[in-house]
Order: sequence, then C-alpha cells, then structure tokens
Amino acid sequence: MAEKVVDIQDLEYWYMQGTPMEVQALKGAHFDVYRGEVVAVLGHTGSGKSTLIQHLNGLLRPHKGHVRVLEYDLTDPNVDVKALRRRVGLVFQFPEAQLFERYVGDDVAFGPRQLGLSREEVRERVRTAMNAVGLDFETYKDRFTFSLSGGEKRRAALAGVLALRPEILVLDEPTAGLDPEGRRLILNLIRRLKEEWELTLILVTHDMDTVAEMADRCFVLADGRTVLSGTPREVFAHPEVLRELALDLPHPTEVTHRLAATGVPVRPDALTLDEAETAIRHVLANGSANT
Ligand SMILES: Nc1ncnc2c1ncn2[C@@H]1O[C@H](COP(=O)(O)OP(=O)(O)OP(=O)(O)O)[C@@H](O)[C@H]1O
Ligand SMILES: [Mg+2]
Repeated sequence: MAEKVVDIQDLEYWYMQGTPMEVQALKGAHFDVYRGEVVAVLGHTGSGKSTLIQHLNGLLRPHKGHVRVLEYDLTDPNVDVKALRRRVGLVFQFPEAQLFERYVGDDVAFGPRQLGLSREEVRERVRTAMNAVGLDFETYKDRFTFSLSGGEKRRAALAGVLALRPEILVLDEPTAGLDPEGRRLILNLIRRLKEEWELTLILVTHDMDTVAEMADRCFVLADGRTVLSGTPREVFAHPEVLRELALDLPHPTEVTHRLAATGVPVRPDALTLDEAETAIRHVLANGSANT
C-alpha cells in the first residue's frame, strides 16, 4: 500500500477572522493523497480550492481540523515549515505574474540559490528544470524575463519550482488562459513529471478533459466542503451533482451521456475520446452496449 502523503480532515479556514469582513473559505474539507498519485481538485469559483492547497506547504495554517503533509503536522505551531517547503512545491494561479528577475536563468535559479547548494549544483538543477519545461537552457537562460510569451513565462515559473526538486508538486490552474498549444505543452509536461520524475501531483483545474485523462482521483469542493471524491469515473458518474455545482463533464462523457439519455444503448461513462469511440462503435456493430 502506497504511503499517504497528505491527510486533511474537517479543515476549516477563515479569511480576516474576527473582522466584519470575515469569510469562511473552508467549512469542513477533507482531502488525501498517496505517493505517486495525480489528484485533481475541482469546484466552482470561490469553492475554496486555492485556500485548501495553500495549506499543503504551510502558507496557510488550519484554524480547525487536521492537516498532515508528509511527516509534518500543520496544526503544530512549531512545525518546520521551511523543511516542508523544500519537499512540497506550490505553483500559484497565474504564476507568471511573480517572475521578478531580469533574466530567465536567474529567475529559475532563485529558489535553489536559497538552499545553500554549490554553484554547479544550482546550474545543473536550473538546466534540468528549464529543459524539462521545454525552455532550452542555452537558448533561454540569458533572455529577458519580460520578453517571454505568456505560455513561456508560465513554464519558467514552473521550472523555478521544479528546480527545488520537490516530492509533491501542487499546481493551481496550470492551463488556465493558455492557448491550445500552451495547454498541450503543460499537459505533456505533467505526464512526464509523473512518469520520469516520480512526482506526486496535485492539480486544481476546471479542465475536465484533463481530469479524465490524467487524474487517478479527484475531489470536488463546493462552498468550502468536499462534496464528492473518487476516481474520475466514479465522480463523473454523477452528472446531476456536477451540473448543480455548475461543473462540466469531460466532453466524451457528455456525448455518451447524451446519447444514452436519448435511448441509444451506449455505455454512458466514457472518459476519453478513445473510450467514447469504442462505445459508439460497439453500438453500431452490435446494436447494444458493451458492458
Ligand atoms: N485573501 C483573501 N481575503 C478574503 N477572502 C478571500 C481571500 N482569498 C479567498 N477569499 C474568499 O474565500 C473563498 C474561497 O476562495 P478560494 O480562492 O479558495 O476559491 P477557489 O475555489 O480557488 O476559486 P477560483 O476558482 O476562483 O480560483 C471565496 O469566498 C473568496 O472570496
Ligand atoms: Mg483559486
């Protein structure tokens, strides 16, 4: 059995607690992740996704409930947050807004330089991280940060976190606002990070096709609570719940559900285009659903 690397139970969190502007962003969320998994966090805007994941590297501390990440208990006021942050990398929503060094290479090197590594080790980490995100080290290291395209900036920000060599990588909306090519690059990268870097990946996303293709499990938040969790197939088997939360289904699932609803004897739970194609071909060939 794989090691449980994140265990969050009954988490509650308030912004501006004790002021008239107080907002309770989390009202009893649960979330867990095993080593090596890709786990997606879904939910409508304002449901608490970013608040939840900022607990994973101690940026936010639980007001109520239980948060354990690796061997760190975040309810303990003396927990070694610095050590935790070396092992859990967090890439914010629109991270490109936070690039601040003049040269791309320096920006990616910023984190590892804080770790007290040798110059050679920093350079090696920066080279590996930049190449991994598709920004060739020799070509891009001396480019001005501001001269990069939006998608390249996003990948540079990601390289900066990868250069810290985290065990757990948390990505908040990694494909939001990117064009199809930028999106494809990020998704291929995420796949490689799982396979080649053996990272545990946690991603917040609205992109249900990504969830269907890549996530081992997902958690759906609504108004600060976890309302649904399981494998994508389990979660997307509840289209009515998702619709009520104004969440989409993956496109292939939507199509097979619609066909099934109009009486076509097709298996309705396709997650990927390949699965939808197989299910529909099966009906065409046999006149009934495969099971
Ligand atoms: N810094 C803050 N100060 C006050 N309230 C906040 C702050 N950040 C978030 N909130 C509120 O907390 C709730 C949860 O916000 P959060 O950003 O976690 O949602 P989200 O699911 O990430 O949304 P989105 O999909 O739009 O990114 C919302 O009501 C939001 O307005
Ligand atoms: Mg958010």
